[in-house]
Amino acid sequence: MPHPLQGYRTPARAMHWIVAAAVLLMIPAGLVMTREGISRPLQDALFLFHKNTGVLLFFLILARLAYRLMHPPPPLPASMPGWQRRAAGASHAALYALLIAMPVSGFVRVRAGGFPIELLDRLGAGPWLAKSEPLAEFAKDFHAFAAFTLIGVLFIHVGAALHHAMIRRDGVWQRMWPPVARS
Ligand code: HEM
Ligand code: HEM
Repeated sequence: MPHPLQGYRTPARAMHWIVAAAVLLMIPAGLVMTREGISRPLQDALFLFHKNTGVLLFFLILARLAYRLMHPPPPLPASMPGWQRRAAGASHAALYALLIAMPVSGFVRVRAGGFPIELLDRLGAGPWLAKSEPLAEFAKDFHAFAAFTLIGVLFIHVGAALHHAMIRRDGVWQRMWPPVARS
């Protein structure tokens, strides 16, 4: 059944699904690479992936937010109650805040700890932060806390999306899926 509801534009959809796929790989990579007893080569590969993809994601998220400022999301269906609109707005704001907080705290944890970020090092970027064990420890705890908050919000987010897709069938799912807007 075609949905008359106006959807997100193609760049917003494409960026949503690229960021979603990357974050859904970053989380297990982070959880596995910090486990005791995994092999050294696997740990090295996961750290390489996690740090460098995370830095790239940071720029993609900034681009996404800039695009959103220029192209505000289309209106939600009139059938949606006010508390659900507010819940959607609050959870999306929380997701964006966490999507900024994760790479920034990860960066601070690595740089204040004196460790490499291969992509930035290769580009000749300086460390930008002096080595500091207390700062590295704080950023590490913050990164882990924010990660678990993100996982919690994502459960709600994906649950709400599937609820719209399969139970409400109100066209909200089709605002974001497929990743390319049909003309
Ligand atoms: C694979 C599971 C996911 C599904 C099924 C999903 C589904 C959706 C849908 C249907 C919307 C549109 C809601 C609307 O019409 O207002 C949306 C928006 C959004 N999603 Fe997801 N999503 C997923 C994963 C993620 C992930 C991993 C993130 C970030 C870490 C994320 C962040 C967002 C944000 C920030 C918005 C708001 C877009 C805006 O208005 O700017 N999503 N998602
Ligand atoms: C969207 C981006 C990111 C997500 C979702 C994410 C997620 C995670 C998760 C779930 C963990 C495991 C936490 C734990 O169990 O303690 C973790 C650990 C870690 N992340 Fe990230 N991360 C992101 C970006 C980054 C970036 C950009 C860097 C560095 C440049 C980074 C560096 C680290 C480091 C070093 C650890 C291990 C902390 C430790 O125990 O020493 N992360 N990350």
